[in-house]
Amino acid sequence: MIENESQSDENVFSVSDSKAENYFEFRDVNKAFDEHTVLNHVSFTVKRGETCVIMGRSGVGKSVSLKHILGFLRADSGRIFIDGADVTDYSEAQFSEIRKKVTMVFQSGALFDSLTVFENIAFPLEDQPGLTEEDVNAYVDKLAHTLEVEDALDKLPGELSTGLRRAVAIARALAQNPEAILYDEPTTMVDPIMAAHMGDLILRLKQAFRKTSIVVTHDTHLAKKLADKIVFLQDGKATVFPSWDAFESSTDPFIHNFLLQDQLIPAMDVTL
Ligand SMILES: Nc1ncnc2c1ncn2[C@@H]1O[C@H](COP(=O)(O)OP(=O)(O)O)[C@@H](O)[C@H]1O
Ligand SMILES: [Mg+2]
Repeated sequence: MIENESQSDENVFSVSDSKAENYFEFRDVNKAFDEHTVLNHVSFTVKRGETCVIMGRSGVGKSVSLKHILGFLRADSGRIFIDGADVTDYSEAQFSEIRKKVTMVFQSGALFDSLTVFENIAFPLEDQPGLTEEDVNAYVDKLAHTLEVEDALDKLPGELSTGLRRAVAIARALAQNPEAILYDEPTTMVDPIMAAHMGDLILRLKQAFRKTSIVVTHDTHLAKKLADKIVFLQDGKATVFPSWDAFESSTDPFIHNFLLQDQLIPAMDVTL
């Protein structure tokens, strides 16, 4: 675990306070690539059990924000907290522990092509001590049922549609029993019907498991379905809205325009 009694420098290695109300916090985070400022004094919090949707046009820093949480990118200044601990200066080894409790669902699914759907979902359970074969079967069945992939358990990922593959990837992420889940654009590159279906599945997971979640999307239908809170990124700045309604009724012309365009042209977002 991250909590390591032998750490002497309290300022650098804050001990995790598992009762912290905020599971994630960005505090005045700045990040630039060369001269290009991507995050400009970004601050927001995600409460334990809350689903936060990060919205904004392509290239505003949505994926970059998630990469800071997982330690794949480091802030130039500002602090990032996870589960009560300041992780800003965590080592790579400490971030690999973070990645066990905070799981990212990748767009591509990243499934093992030579393993069946059942084996893919069961994979993270294999090195869990104390789980019997019956436990594993029961848990995989529960996840497969929740994500409506039970008919595909004996198939290989290559035999599945993009949407089904993504549902299997989500089931596998949940099999790790993470404390929090990050979704990066879960509804891009699938047709609108499958996008709506993915949204319904993620909503069902939200209701069934109540995991702290961050969903990065430009898809307003998905955001409306899932968001307890919206963080809107634009020109490096984050504006926080406490609900979808507050976001939708914003009088900011840029947000108004963003909402209108996305409804007219769904799935337009492409990150190069
Ligand atoms: N590793 C990197 N090196 C240089 N620039 C990067 C890197 N990662 C992201 N960027 C730039 O940061 C900006 C935000 O990217 P990203 O967060 O991926 O956008 P999006 O909001 O579409 O997810 C983009 O201009 C992108 O080119
Ligand atoms: Mg992105």
